[in-house]
Amino acid sequence: MRISASLSLVVLACAALVSSATAPAAAKPAPKPSTKPAAKPAPITAATPPMGWNSWNFFAGKVTDKDIRGAADNLVDTGMKDAGYVYVNIDDTWEGDRDADGVLHTNAKFPDMKALADYVHSKGLKIGIYSGPGNKTCGGYAASLGHEEQDAKMYADWGIDYLKYDECSFTGDVLEKQAPDDKAAQMRLMIAAYEKMGKALKSTGRPIVFSLCQYGWDAVWEWAPAIGGNLWRTTGDITPRWDRIYAILSQQDGLAKYAGPGHWNDPDMLEVGNGRLSIQENWSHFAMWAMLAAPLLAGNDLPNMKPEVKAILTNKDVIAIDQDRLGKQGTRAYSDGEVEVWTRHLSGGALAIAVLDAGDSRYSTHPFHLNLTKLGLHGPQTGKDLWTGKPITLTNNQPIELTSHNVLLVRIDAPK
Ligand code: GLA
Repeated sequence: MRISASLSLVVLACAALVSSATAPAAAKPAPKPSTKPAAKPAPITAATPPMGWNSWNFFAGKVTDKDIRGAADNLVDTGMKDAGYVYVNIDDTWEGDRDADGVLHTNAKFPDMKALADYVHSKGLKIGIYSGPGNKTCGGYAASLGHEEQDAKMYADWGIDYLKYDECSFTGDVLEKQAPDDKAAQMRLMIAAYEKMGKALKSTGRPIVFSLCQYGWDAVWEWAPAIGGNLWRTTGDITPRWDRIYAILSQQDGLAKYAGPGHWNDPDMLEVGNGRLSIQENWSHFAMWAMLAAPLLAGNDLPNMKPEVKAILTNKDVIAIDQDRLGKQGTRAYSDGEVEVWTRHLSGGALAIAVLDAGDSRYSTHPFHLNLTKLGLHGPQTGKDLWTGKPITLTNNQPIELTSHNVLLVRIDAPK
């Protein structure tokens, strides 16, 4: 056996030699260099975290066509569009009834969705809409169960650029009915429902950002990118209160590895400028969402935006941290009591450092010693304080005094 095997190997090798030796030298002309330029790879949808404005946090169920047109005008007039806020997203409560053919109509608040989309596009902006995989949205309006392809096609025909797809009644309509006591089967149903809409959006041929909103259930970060998700909520709803914002921030631990160009963790929309958040809380909220590479969807009252709120939302240096093309989400490097130190690695070897005072009493204003060694840095570091806009040098064990819920946000272009 062994002899015949090695014999046949020799025969094969000789045949190969003969055939290459006998092949005429000029038989195979060298391939001509192509004159066509190499095809450009398709652009990544949501290559950086989506930025825009969403109607829910300020208008909730009251939003109308007029408010959306107004928001588009305001994004342009306030300079927010130039700062990067391009999506104008209609949240829940635009939906009317389905007709006999299953076509979903808008309700009286939105008389002509195509005309509205055209208006938003005419301002150089993009438009987003909202639905869900159940029968009803969270507000009790018609959602997409059983009409996924039909709805996706209609969105594309209208010119929609973004869909937020909210779980809401899917639990009762599908999970509890089809798999009442089987968590694993429920998870498969959840994934299948989102995958169905992901495919339906894809088959429209229009790039539509797909935003999953199911509050982090079933470890959504593990499967959302594969089914076409560009972002996914990681928690329940945000409210304009510091304790809620801080709780959501704390719940992002461990999720950084799932974020990257085209697919982002979504700690929910911004509350900057809403409720009774102090100026420090607004700074900290915005700074930490930038550290998290979070989608920046403002949710404030744009026509009555205070100058200090506009200054936060349009701070180009902080936005540049959020939008950094490397797409690497920041993490908590360490915490000492009430003070937390977060870092985010940026393109070109730069580093963002956020020192957050999460303490809420006047005692939390005592100086804190920043330990650069724990951040892997050696010697004094020169950078820019992104809220004052001034140069800053950080030294090891330097005392940093922050008021309660305040943040020091520094960019270091050449960390040592
Ligand atoms: C859920 C979502 C919110 C908003 C409302 C609308 O609560 O998490 O962001 O979309 O539904 O009903």
